[in-house]
Amino acid sequence: MKDGKFLTLGIETSCDETAASVVADGRFVMSNVISSQIDIHTNYGGVVPEIASRKHLERINDVMDKALSDAGVSAGEIDLIGVTYGPGLVGALLIGVAAAKTMAFALDIPLVGVNHMHGHIAANYPEHHELEPPFMALVVSGGHTEIVNVTDYNKCEKIGSTRDDAAGEAFDKVARVIGLGYPGGPKIDKAAKSGDRDAVHFKRVYLEDGSYDFSFSGLKTQALNYLNSERQAGREINVNDVAASFQEAVVEVIAYKAVSAALEFNRDKIVMAGGVASNSRLRELMEEKASKHGISIIKPSPVMCTDNAAMIASSAYYAHLAGESSGFDLDAVPGLEF
Ligand code: KG4
Ligand code: ZN
Repeated sequence: MKDGKFLTLGIETSCDETAASVVADGRFVMSNVISSQIDIHTNYGGVVPEIASRKHLERINDVMDKALSDAGVSAGEIDLIGVTYGPGLVGALLIGVAAAKTMAFALDIPLVGVNHMHGHIAANYPEHHELEPPFMALVVSGGHTEIVNVTDYNKCEKIGSTRDDAAGEAFDKVARVIGLGYPGGPKIDKAAKSGDRDAVHFKRVYLEDGSYDFSFSGLKTQALNYLNSERQAGREINVNDVAASFQEAVVEVIAYKAVSAALEFNRDKIVMAGGVASNSRLRELMEEKASKHGISIIKPSPVMCTDNAAMIASSAYYAHLAGESSGFDLDAVPGLEF
């Protein structure tokens, strides 16, 4: 406790960011330290799990110390530890879980294991203080594309998900194919700004009527086929046009399904979450489609879209209020479901 505020230390190591954050009363971010490994993994064109675990181990203590010092609090003032225990890379998750258990044991305070996906949704609480469930959530990240009916804090019912690639994965794969490199999402977003979104027709895959599921795996093949046929015909490829056209095919389907789900479940807000939620065209199109039906779009700032520990602290706080806690037998669950 500090100045009457309940302090949660959040820890996140599920993929390639080592992160720690202190959040007061689940809503006020006092520090948000993110040590990214992106430069290291870029050399390999994607995240190398063994390297990720080793880097988390090297960095976790410094990252936690910095989170405390940036917040201007001592370890003894922390009331709760929240840590991501899945889904993610097992070796990476284990580093955060071990650090969290050690802290909770040494400080004799409660520990809550957090589902990373609930964390992404909770990223919105510190940035929108009036936001409360129920709402519809759109979670779009490197490993997930999900439409989720959120009925209470940390009570989530998945109503649609991808049947193959996640949206972020599709961005990353297509970016590689068209030569933009890793990480693909932000690069496609940037290139698309100077491209024509009608230049190439990429298929919109809506699946069966009324389904909230997605399928993005065909897009990479379509991009490859397009590039091959253009090269064979001796035509010059405009990367910006391909990026803009591909991006439009992805975000159009996502925005359509998210808004349809909100309408069916009578939700007046859609909360965006995950790395792909920072895509500028998706944000624009969501606003455009939702406003026609009086639905409001809630979105985190870009830093709160991608992996961070403030979102984990916020989610842990609400789980703690609901009476949840984890024991020292908390283990990493790489395939943890929503
Ligand atoms: O949520 P996140 O940081 O990590 C996971 O939990 O997966 O999401 C990372 C994903 C990557 O696939 C990245 O390419 C994508 O989010 N991404 C974007 C943008 N920024 C990040 N995709 C499209 N547009 C962006 N601006
Ligand atoms: Zn994530």
